Amino acid sequence: MSHAHPAHAAHAAHVHAAHAAADLPALLDLDAEVLGAYLPAVTAWTAEHVADVRTVVDLGAGTGVGARALAEQFPEATVLALERAPAMLARLEAILAGALAGRLEVVDADLDAAWPALGPVDLVWAASSLHEVTDPARVLAQARDLLHPGGAVVVVEMDSLPWFLPDDVGAGRPGLEARCHAALAAAGWNAVPDWAPVLTGAGLEVVARRQFPVQVGPGAAHAEEYARATLQHQRRALDGVLAAADLAALDDLLADHGPDAVLAGERLTVHGSRVAWLARRP
Ligand SMILES: C[S@@+](CC[C@H](N)C(=O)[O-])C[C@H]1O[C@@H](n2cnc3c(N)ncnc32)[C@H](O)[C@@H]1O
Repeated sequence: MSHAHPAHAAHAAHVHAAHAAADLPALLDLDAEVLGAYLPAVTAWTAEHVADVRTVVDLGAGTGVGARALAEQFPEATVLALERAPAMLARLEAILAGALAGRLEVVDADLDAAWPALGPVDLVWAASSLHEVTDPARVLAQARDLLHPGGAVVVVEMDSLPWFLPDDVGAGRPGLEARCHAALAAAGWNAVPDWAPVLTGAGLEVVARRQFPVQVGPGAAHAEEYARATLQHQRRALDGVLAAADLAALDDLLADHGPDAVLAGERLTVHGSRVAWLARRP
């Protein structure tokens, strides 16, 4: 087994991080276009538990896919979208002028630093962002302090990476995507903890937890684009952690744009799953 020179490994990690950051806004939007059926499902489930929602805070709002779904579910509500990444803030600013004009406020804020004055609010939404902050317990305690009594925090996470490939892709050993996911998990991807004890520790009462699986296709709009973007994104992290034969098989799949390609949209079924926790301020 060969080992990368530390300087090369550091450079590779830096290049991966730079690519990952550049890819992320487009990937978030593609994910919502293809697997976004979970969004109205989670917001409708939220509405079963929280009445009269007038103000929502979206922590780490990204490109605004959650903020949009929340504004649709709660037509009386203003959504405050908190974000710190310039590329995400630019996307959020771009949707301000659309159908959400007057309903969405973009707040340039770092959740790891002091928050701007915001509260009180009825709902705090943290989708795929809580695992990114330095101190999730502190963020949840601040979220609790923002809430009216009876208001709720909803934490949403991906409980599995999206899934595109059949077990047997027609070349190499079966189980390629499972091995990719295992290698990514070993590299720390998608390590989502159980947020229930952290929510409880922040003084919130966990009311419900639910999974939201989604399956789409074949022939779903943007599915091929999403699959290729996701697998390319993963591929950049797999150098040196996935066996050479599997890397070659993945590269072959990505290079094949023919009518019978495994990644051709007409053949592709996409699976995804989210898990959500809902906790109330007593
Ligand atoms: C994986 S994305 C999820 C975006 C969006 N919530 C969604 O569901 O598509 C995580 C987002 O959290 C943001 N984020 C992470 N840490 C943050 C922090 N300390 N302050 C503000 N935003 C943060 C990132 O910039 C990114 O946009």
